[in-house]
Amino acid sequence: MSAIHRLSDLLINQIAAGEVVERPASVLKEVLENALDAGARAIEVHLEEGGVRRLKVSDDGDGMGPEDLPLAIERHATSKIATLDDLEQVATLGFRGEALAAIAAVSRLRVTSRAHGAPQAWSISSDRRDVAPAALNHGTVVDVADLYFNTPARRKFLKSESTEFAHCADVFRRTALVRHAVGFQLTHNGRVVHRLPPADPRRRVAALLGDEFLAEARELDTQAGAVRLWGLAALPAHAKANRDSQFFFVNGRFVRDKLLAHAAREAYADVLHGSRHPAYVLFLQTDPAAVDVNVHPAKTEVRFREARAIHQFVFHALNRCLADPTAGVLPTEEVAASIREAPTTPFHATVDSSRWAAPSRQTPLLMESANRAYFDFVAPSPQLADGSSAPPPPPAHEADDTPPLGFALAQLHGVYILAQNSAGLVLVDMHAAHERILYERLKTVLDGDPTIQRLLIPAVLALGPADFAAAEEHAPVLQQLGFDTAPIGPQEIIVRSVPALLGDAPIADLVRSLLGELREFPASQVVTARRNELLATMACHGAVRAHRRLTLPEMNALLRDMERCDRIDQCNHGRPTWRAMSLQELDRLFLRGQ
Ligand SMILES: Nc1ncnc2c1ncn2[C@@H]1O[C@H](COP(=O)(O)OP(=O)(O)O)[C@@H](O)[C@H]1O
Ligand SMILES: [Mg+2]
Repeated sequence: MSAIHRLSDLLINQIAAGEVVERPASVLKEVLENALDAGARAIEVHLEEGGVRRLKVSDDGDGMGPEDLPLAIERHATSKIATLDDLEQVATLGFRGEALAAIAAVSRLRVTSRAHGAPQAWSISSDRRDVAPAALNHGTVVDVADLYFNTPARRKFLKSESTEFAHCADVFRRTALVRHAVGFQLTHNGRVVHRLPPADPRRRVAALLGDEFLAEARELDTQAGAVRLWGLAALPAHAKANRDSQFFFVNGRFVRDKLLAHAAREAYADVLHGSRHPAYVLFLQTDPAAVDVNVHPAKTEVRFREARAIHQFVFHALNRCLADPTAGVLPTEEVAASIREAPTTPFHATVDSSRWAAPSRQTPLLMESANRAYFDFVAPSPQLADGSSAPPPPPAHEADDTPPLGFALAQLHGVYILAQNSAGLVLVDMHAAHERILYERLKTVLDGDPTIQRLLIPAVLALGPADFAAAEEHAPVLQQLGFDTAPIGPQEIIVRSVPALLGDAPIADLVRSLLGELREFPASQVVTARRNELLATMACHGAVRAHRRLTLPEMNALLRDMERCDRIDQCNHGRPTWRAMSLQELDRLFLRGQ
């Protein structure tokens, strides 16, 4: 007797549902995409209890005839592609033919539809699967009730009603952002949350992101060959504390794409403080054959055939839009040329390095440092602020004892530390250097047990629905990072501990920033995929702010820490943390001995 047997269709679909429709928001995404693929001009969404109890979407699209209804809820049945060629050119949002089948397998589904011009409507339900006459004027109604009623394991993963609703609302907003000409309405538990008439792109953006965003943003529209990037990018001064206002669409599809996000971040890098996030709504249009959307069942990841060229294109288009206040629309030729050149020089390489010696790793920076507790630097006692108690820097001729980065002389405009080493002058960007040190140290927090600091007075944070949802979902990750958090109200959490390295950081801002980052990714991927970004965020918040007066001992402690720190020569954003100028170079500057 064989031990192998075929799985039932129901079970196959239930397994698939784990990938395609893992929560109400993903059901909503699929059903909305079907409505749009059917050419709907008006779409209404009704949710009850976060979409778990009921998720109903009505559209006025092409509809389906009675012969199509059983196929619609069958696996691998689609009207959108037929051949591999079609797949490579796919212009519809759906094409895998598995969403409705998966939804039918894990809920009580009813689809009612009336094909365009047909005398009447028909309906099918997941439990009986026979087609019966129904009443409907036009389009399609997809009615999903009791999601996961028959898959208790999956139901256990659902979060609170407000969390599930927050995810649904995100999906709704993204869809409405990109399809501005379609009217949308969203109700939750009978309350209208959004009512969006068809609008031009600017008005739709304003309706969803607020008039302020529109006022703060610059418009761009750039084309190079078959690639076009257009949309709105907020000026750096209006950056946000989280990534809520970052929307990238590729060929009408909302994506979370590392390549595009990176290109955008680079374009803002020089003009944005590290803990701030740019705000933008950008639409990238390319030949469908140049981008593979079939990377993941949820289709939020894409793969570009010309990844590097796309990166350069997005970077340049955005960078120029931000740099030049008069730049709205760029001439095609110019951008096309910039792509061909495809300079690999990073943005920060524009610093004139001819005069300032770049830090060299040939000089080993490792050396025994003053035995000063690091934490003292993070939290200096204010009474030391005059620095009078600091030992004077040793004279230059004691060259042998001088550490590589020398001894601090003074703080310049609250931003730079001036130090003297045996060769001459050292200049240090205090925030950038400290941030780097923290970043490197925080890595050890994730590698082992974090040294945590219990807060004497726990911090209570009021959060928006999306942040609250993230706090609930990512509590284990936060724990791993050293933050002990728990919900204490419908929109409030309590923070009981933080990593000891960050004992003095502004906790509320820090946690909100982290939540913003965490929301970007499914819980399972966060620590592996986002580890460094999370640490960078923590480091940035923990690092000493510009214009904080430092005492000479504090400055010297920082210099010594820098010498011990790996990869200190560049800050987390790739800019140098320090520069040196030798006495000879200074002499030349003053034409001495010439
Ligand atoms: N709202 C709708 N209006 C018209 N047809 C629909 C609608 N929803 C689904 N369909 C039909 O059902 C089929 C199966 O849908 P689905 O399972 O989401 O797969 P896919 O969208 O990948 O084709 C679609 O190809 C389409 O023909
Ligand atoms: Mg579909």
